[in-house]
Amino acid sequence: MARLVRIGDVARELGVSVARLRQLADSGVIPSERSPGGHRVFDPGVVRSALAELSTVEFTTARWTFPQWERTLSISGLQEDVVWRELADEVLRDRLSPEAMSTANYTFTEMLNNAIDHSAAESVYVAAWVSRVEARFEVRDEGRGALPHIQEALNLEDVYDALGELTKGKTTTDPERHTGEGIFFTSKAVDIFTLESAGLRWTVDNVRDDQAVGASDIRRGTRVHWEMDPATPRPIAEVFGAYTDDDHQFTRTRTLVRLFGFGVRFVSRSEAKRLMRGLERFEEVIVDFTGIEEVGQGFVDEVLRVWPSQHPETTVRPTGMTGPVEFMVRRGLPARRQEGT
Ligand SMILES: Nc1ncnc2c1ncn2[C@@H]1O[C@H](COP(=O)(O)OP(=O)(O)OP(=O)(O)O)[C@@H](O)[C@H]1O
Ligand SMILES: [Mg+2]
Repeated sequence: MARLVRIGDVARELGVSVARLRQLADSGVIPSERSPGGHRVFDPGVVRSALAELSTVEFTTARWTFPQWERTLSISGLQEDVVWRELADEVLRDRLSPEAMSTANYTFTEMLNNAIDHSAAESVYVAAWVSRVEARFEVRDEGRGALPHIQEALNLEDVYDALGELTKGKTTTDPERHTGEGIFFTSKAVDIFTLESAGLRWTVDNVRDDQAVGASDIRRGTRVHWEMDPATPRPIAEVFGAYTDDDHQFTRTRTLVRLFGFGVRFVSRSEAKRLMRGLERFEEVIVDFTGIEEVGQGFVDEVLRVWPSQHPETTVRPTGMTGPVEFMVRRGLPARRQEGT
C-alpha cells in the first residue's frame, strides 16, 4: 500500500512549501486523499511525478503580467541596497517570512549588482510579484549580456561554453573586485532561477532538483528571474553551508555533466576537459552524471584519473550514475579510490 503522509511531511520531503502544495492540491494539479480523521494526506511518489509533469514553462513564464512593483533605473550612481530597501518597504515587508526576506535580500541585491557592475548598460529594469504562495523577481538590462561577456573575457569558444563555466561557480570576469559567487548561490537559494542571454535560457529548478538549457528570445543584455516561497522556513545559510567549508569559504561545487554538451552521450576526452577546466579552484567537486546514458572510456579516464592526478588538491566525487554509466565510472576509478583510501 502506498505510504500516505501529511502535507507538512510531504513538503519537507520534496522541498516544496506547504503553501505551494496546498495551492496545487486545491487546484487538482496534485492528487490527495483524506485520512479517516479528515486530514489531507499525500503519496510522496505521486506528488513527485505530478510536480515533474508541470512544465518548466508553466512554472517560469506564466502569470508574469502586472508586477506589483517595477522600476526602470538609471545605472549611473545606482546602489543596489538603496533599491532593495525601497522594494522591501513598499511590497515585501510583512509578506515574507524572515528567512524569505534574507534570501530575497541576497538574491535581489546580487542580481542588481551584476547589472550595475558588469552589464555596461545605461539602465536596468527591476520588478517584483508577491502573492501568498509565491514571490517572483526580475532584473533585466540591455547591456553586453552575461554569456557573451564571459565568453569574450575568458576567451571561450561559444556561449554554451560560457554557460558551462558560469554553472561551475567562482566564474568572474573581474577577479580584482569580484569572486564569482552571486549567480551560483542565487541559483541555488531560490525555487526556480532562470538566466537568459544570447538566445539561451538556463533554468535551475531546485523544486525538482534539475537544470536545463533551452532557447530564449532574449538576445541583447541579460534577464534574470526567479521564484521563491514567501513563507520558506529555510535559512539562506543552509544553502551557503552546502558549498562552503568551516571558514565559510566557497570550496565545494557540483557540476551537472548534462549541461556540458548536447544529448546524453559523453564520450571524448575533450568533452571531459571542458567539464573539468578550472575546477581546481575548488577543494571538492561533485560530478553529477544524472541523465547521462552513455560515457566513453576516454571521458571517464580524464574525469576520474588524469585530471585528479594532475590536481591532487581537489577531490572529485562522481554521483548520479545508473546502469552502464555506473559500470564505466566504477571501472575508471583509480584502484586505491575503490578500496576507499
Ligand atoms: N548583467 C550582466 N551583464 C554582463 N555580464 C554579467 C551580468 N551578470 C553577470 N555577468 C557576468 O557573469 C559573471 C558571474 O557573475 P556572478 O554574479 O556569479 O559573479 P561576480 O559578479 O563576478 O562576482 P560576485 O557576484 O561574487 O561579486 C560576472 O563576472 C560577469 O562577467
Ligand atoms: Mg555578481
